[in-house]
Amino acid sequence: MSTPILGYAAQSAQDNLEPYRFERREPRADDVVIDILFCGVCHSDLHQARNDWANSVYPVVPGHEIIGRVISVGSSVTRFKAGDQVGVGCMVDSCQHCEPCHHGLEQYCVEFPTFTYNGTDRHDHAPTYGGYSEKIIVSDKFVLKVPDGLDLAGAAPLLCAGITTYSPLRHWKVGKGSKVAVVGLGGLGHMALKLAKALGAEVTLFTRSADKEQDARRLGADNIVISTDDAQMAAVNSRFDLIIDTVPYVHDINPYMPTLNISGTLVLVGYLGPLDPFLNSAPLVLGRKSVAGSLIGGIAETQEMLDFCGEHGITSDIEVIKIQEINEAYERMLKSDVKYRFVIDMASLKA
Ligand SMILES: NC(=O)c1ccc[n+]([C@@H]2O[C@H](COP(=O)([O-])OP(=O)(O)OC[C@H]3O[C@@H](n4cnc5c(N)ncnc54)[C@H](OP(=O)(O)O)[C@@H]3O)[C@@H](O)[C@H]2O)c1
Ligand SMILES: [Zn+2]
Ligand SMILES: [Zn+2]
Repeated sequence: MSTPILGYAAQSAQDNLEPYRFERREPRADDVVIDILFCGVCHSDLHQARNDWANSVYPVVPGHEIIGRVISVGSSVTRFKAGDQVGVGCMVDSCQHCEPCHHGLEQYCVEFPTFTYNGTDRHDHAPTYGGYSEKIIVSDKFVLKVPDGLDLAGAAPLLCAGITTYSPLRHWKVGKGSKVAVVGLGGLGHMALKLAKALGAEVTLFTRSADKEQDARRLGADNIVISTDDAQMAAVNSRFDLIIDTVPYVHDINPYMPTLNISGTLVLVGYLGPLDPFLNSAPLVLGRKSVAGSLIGGIAETQEMLDFCGEHGITSDIEVIKIQEINEAYERMLKSDVKYRFVIDMASLKA
């Protein structure tokens, strides 16, 4: 028997999110049934609700920073039991047999991973609906263990903002002695500061917002550079080994290239699409510099990140909201008016 669920959905790119009733599948042998306690609000939720990537299939029930408690498990599940505190991130399935899947890179599955929302289930071909809802049913391979001792609401954003910034930090081998910069102090940006600092790097924030300086220092930044100030930009010439650029919309990345050291990399995790203005290749060629991209992280790496956060006591800085406040939260996120992640207390759905 399928499970009736109450959630919040956008019915079109122009509509606000409103209550929406739908069914979740009958649990399979490998499924974990999760009561959702908290769900973070990622800028991707807004992109998808408003069809910014031209691939939204409505209704869209967003939410991929999910923290919950296990209600029940299927007959073949051994890693989880009722009562466990668990997380679900951006993916709920992948092919499990391609080369990337074999290497724990399910996010780059050649058959495309099944995303937590706006995806299609690989078995019954039903649409996937995300965490702005009461419960979710997920194959055990894609369920994460949340370390004891972490604040559950603050841990929710680790499932996307955390792993999306941890993965490039690890891929580019950031550690003691590394010089890392982060562009944009929002959900991803503030996690990047905390994680880079905890990995031992010297950390710089590039921001348009001078009023974020104090917060940035508290979050782990050793230096703050106002990206619109040419003198400040020039002062960090040839400085960084890695720049993580979290800006969600098209923007000029050329001014950041001189701030990379020889062989440095600027990795885009925010904006998806053609660059405008064009990227000037000269600083790349003359300094063996790279521009790269990175998508979330694999499941094993997500567990590694959660365990790392457990050991270092790292969670997100959050503003807890009721689900009824979600549309206002989206407007505030568009104005960069959030410190630094909204998290929905899903108990409000029952209010
Ligand atoms: N690659 C992935 O796997 C992945 C995963 C999750 C999210 N994302 C994407 O990453 C992006 C960031 O997400 P988020 O949740 O961190 O967003 P967010 O909380 O809204 O933060 C974005 C930050 O970027 C800066 N910014 C915003 N608009 C800007 C503009 N037009 N020009 C320059 N700077 C701007 C602001 O920081 P300042 O005020 O400091 O300048 C803002 O706080 C989104 O596009 C999201 O879809 C990608
Ligand atoms: Zn996200
Ligand atoms: Zn695969």
